[in-house]
Amino acid sequence: MSNASFIVVANRLPVDSVVDDEGNRTWRRSPGGLVAALEPVLQANRGTWIGWAGAAGAAPEPFEADGVTLLPVELSETEVLRYYEGFSNASLWPLYHDAVEPRVFRRSWWKSYYEVNARFAEVCAREAAPGATVWVQDYQLQLVPGMLREKRPDLRIGFFLHIPFPPVELFMQLPHRMEILQGLLGADLVGFQRPLAAQNFLALTRHLLGYRPRGHYVTVDDRLVRADAFPISIDTAANEEIATTERVRQRAKEIRDELGEPETIILGVDRLDYTKGIEQRLKAFRELLEDGRLKVPKAVMVQVATPSRERVEQYRTLRDRVEREVGRINGEYGQVGLPAVHYLHQSFDRYELAALYQAADIMAVTPLRDGMNLVAKEYVASQIDNRGALVLSEFAGAAGDLRQAFLVNPHDLTDLKDGFVTAANATLDDKMKRMRAMRRYLRKHDVSRWARSFLTALGVPERGAAYNPGSQPAAD
Ligand code: ADP
Ligand code: F6P
Repeated sequence: MSNASFIVVANRLPVDSVVDDEGNRTWRRSPGGLVAALEPVLQANRGTWIGWAGAAGAAPEPFEADGVTLLPVELSETEVLRYYEGFSNASLWPLYHDAVEPRVFRRSWWKSYYEVNARFAEVCAREAAPGATVWVQDYQLQLVPGMLREKRPDLRIGFFLHIPFPPVELFMQLPHRMEILQGLLGADLVGFQRPLAAQNFLALTRHLLGYRPRGHYVTVDDRLVRADAFPISIDTAANEEIATTERVRQRAKEIRDELGEPETIILGVDRLDYTKGIEQRLKAFRELLEDGRLKVPKAVMVQVATPSRERVEQYRTLRDRVEREVGRINGEYGQVGLPAVHYLHQSFDRYELAALYQAADIMAVTPLRDGMNLVAKEYVASQIDNRGALVLSEFAGAAGDLRQAFLVNPHDLTDLKDGFVTAANATLDDKMKRMRAMRRYLRKHDVSRWARSFLTALGVPERGAAYNPGSQPAAD
């Protein structure tokens, strides 16, 4: 047994290991909202992060970065295929996102999911100090709380799901649904992004296991398990600080200039995932150009599509469809040197992202379904002059928090198009009022508050209180 008193267990470490042809290893920040949110919490707690280093094969040695101990867990090539790409991302991911793409089930994937979860639980049980707090993250590791409780009943175990949790009738399709539910119930606290997800979970404990949930609690053996909503957020102060730097302001101006000083820049920043509604967004933009409600070069779109899960079939075909649509729009509406859609299939550093956010008149965050969508919150925090407009899907978790956004239903193309036009034509006064209100909200409801409220509910308030971002943002 080791002496780690605060442990986060997540599929991925905050950094991915990249080994070049000569065998030299470098580390690259891992994609996604989970890392963005948890990194500052772990740094403040000087905790231990157990996760996969992003490549198949032997795990690198444990090491320390920014006060966090990183403990890599090994995944073989077959496990990457079956546990990560298979059961996690081709079975659970589509199902939990309301089956916007058909889910695939293979029996061999489950076996691998089980074995990898057991490995994570094993490592964690070995590393945790007596009575330690362990915070398990996301759908890839739903069996870990139950497995860990069996090995180490002395631990305080929390679980947080970063994606939606489906209604009873969808969850019931899942092979091994009982084991998954029981795995989650190994935690003392099961956290979700939205209240409806917590309700779905509690309803399932009754439906599948015959438990009797009362309010937010369900009794399992002699333990009380709480299920509740804890909407995740960003490090607002850090985002505002970056956005106010001269480097970002200057770069934002350059971007506008490079795009030909359009009246309306519509920006999308997403992992290239079918849940994000990128195709629907592009189609809406094309139809707006077709209808003449928007015109190039006065209006242009910038779509950043971060490479993601590139070996999974649905992601490969999505990329083809998105790139075909971009080509079609540019073929029909672009001009020499002035494309209608600027498509960037790349990762950027935080400064470049902040400059893109600041340069954009409209940020389109229009997922068909999503847990939170931190990019929406990052955009708001970057709007230091309050001039931008956020077009936000009702089906993004962020819609529960950012009520002053221009809310749209991305499944309804007409509504989506109208949302863009309304945002493009909104008065400056209207946009500034909305943006100010959202920024005020985010200053209060930042990631530190999220961590604090979760850890307080888990019974370890001192861990949450330890995280206190240094600089407070300037008032409006
Ligand atoms: P998800 O977790 O599904 O990817 P979120 O919107 O919650 O979605 O979080 C995405 C995170 O990834 C954000 O913190 C965002 O800044 C970051 N990100 C998105 N696209 C890029 C990119 N092209 N380069 C670098 N970081 C990116
Ligand atoms: O938010 C859902 C999630 O799977 C996170 O666990 C992760 O941060 C992000 O999406 C990126 O996914 P992946 O780790 O599969 O690249």
